[in-house]
Amino acid sequence: MKEPVMPGAVPNPLRSVLDRRLPRIAGPSVLVLFGVTGDLARKKLLPAIYDLANRGLLPPGFGLVGFARRDWADQDFAQQAHEAVRKYARTPFREDVWRQLSEGVRFVQGELHDDEAFDNLARTVRELDADRGTGGNYAFYLSLPPKLFPTVVKQLRRSGLAESRGDSWRRVVIEKPFGHNLESAQELNAVVDDVFPPQSVFRIDHYLGKETVQNIMALRFANTLFEPIWNRSYVDHVQITMAEDIGVGGRAGYYDGIGAARDVIQNHLLQLLALVAMEEPLSFTADAIRAEKEKALSAVTLPEDLGLGTARGQYAAGWQGGASVVGYLEEEGIPADSITETYAAIKLGVNTRRWAGVPFYLRTGKRLGRRVTEVALVFQRAPHEMFSRVETEELGANSLVLRIQPDEGVTLRFGSKVPGASMEVRDVSMDFTYGESFTEASPEAYERLILDVLIGDPPLFPRQEEVELSWKILDPIEEYWAKNGRPEQYESGTWGPPSAHELMARDGRQWRRP
Ligand code: BG6
Repeated sequence: MKEPVMPGAVPNPLRSVLDRRLPRIAGPSVLVLFGVTGDLARKKLLPAIYDLANRGLLPPGFGLVGFARRDWADQDFAQQAHEAVRKYARTPFREDVWRQLSEGVRFVQGELHDDEAFDNLARTVRELDADRGTGGNYAFYLSLPPKLFPTVVKQLRRSGLAESRGDSWRRVVIEKPFGHNLESAQELNAVVDDVFPPQSVFRIDHYLGKETVQNIMALRFANTLFEPIWNRSYVDHVQITMAEDIGVGGRAGYYDGIGAARDVIQNHLLQLLALVAMEEPLSFTADAIRAEKEKALSAVTLPEDLGLGTARGQYAAGWQGGASVVGYLEEEGIPADSITETYAAIKLGVNTRRWAGVPFYLRTGKRLGRRVTEVALVFQRAPHEMFSRVETEELGANSLVLRIQPDEGVTLRFGSKVPGASMEVRDVSMDFTYGESFTEASPEAYERLILDVLIGDPPLFPRQEEVELSWKILDPIEEYWAKNGRPEQYESGTWGPPSAHELMARDGRQWRRP
């Protein structure tokens, strides 16, 4: 069968080869986007949809429907989408691709509780079916605060939109946060579960859409080199860092009361931990991968003393990129007495035969020294000290660093003899960098994930059990923090509060300087 390609898609000589290996192109479908006026839609989702079209991965029978309160006509929404695409898309702008895509763009104005608006939505998608041949396949993307999910899913059921007919499908995509603790996550799930079967629910954790995160599995299980030393016999500890240089920006309303741990540890960082700690899945199927991740998450243990094994901070004013920046409490929309943490560090264990006794240190923060996400396996020292202390003074521990972003790749740090007459050993690096090894740029996480939703491919989406296990890990920590004082202040542009460094120092270790 000849593949459907958007006219004018950028010709790629490798495509025919790649496609034979991996024919991953969306079939006819409509993506209904709730929350189109939000930041996520503008900066990530709409550009990703365009990028998919530009790469020839969306069929001509594709439609995009925006739903929001704004008093817009189809053209207004198309215009907003056009601006977002021009500003944020990864691939070059092509008028012909945009024209083809925008012919399938519709907008429905309304409130979420308004039955009539949803009846309009149902009519609009049916008309799109007829106009564009979208096959009656609909994905509903809820880029909305979770408190609005119940209203939307009930409306989808009431208006008949949630119900598939014949061979057509219905899928619902939900953005994090999936609740704010275990209980609320379960309540939220019950609402969604009532209307959509589990295989139709796609929970987005955009970290899983990143090439470098998927590469953790390739690195571990497609090679023989790493697995033999990927355990307690060789690894001293693991550090998982997600540092951001930005502050809370325009997201005060979302962020305050949520904080760093709920925002990214509950999902992104614990998913990274699961991928590093899990055993090899039987296959690359969704069920096999999720089962192994769930086992790893079930084995996670908390520090005995939550006061000593965790740290949290809040950024104070400081300097970033040569400019002075305000502290969290001075940010617009943040209450002056907020105790929301913008930095969190947690020491966890993974109680399995592979990892018993190996600490996993997780840290994240806003307004840190620079933007970097990495996973570092820090290895034990050589058991026999053949060289003198003086000779190895500048030798650190061997480490394998999975560089998730922005400098995507893998680094191996080990000691090498310094040229010269003495036996001096110093750290050197061996680097794999995506940019140098591959000619194709990595797609954005949302391109991959939206495509997977339209194809119906679930391995990169956490299932409810994973979400619940992650809350079980975080809930006791959040409860402890809620009862014990305020986060410590740290100067913007530095690497977090003193308590985070003390946490490491107590174990005779230190955070890597990424
Ligand atoms: C989001 C968080 O999930 O991830 C944000 O809600 C954070 O607070 C963002 O800024 C970072 O994503 P990335 O892909 O830039 O690391």
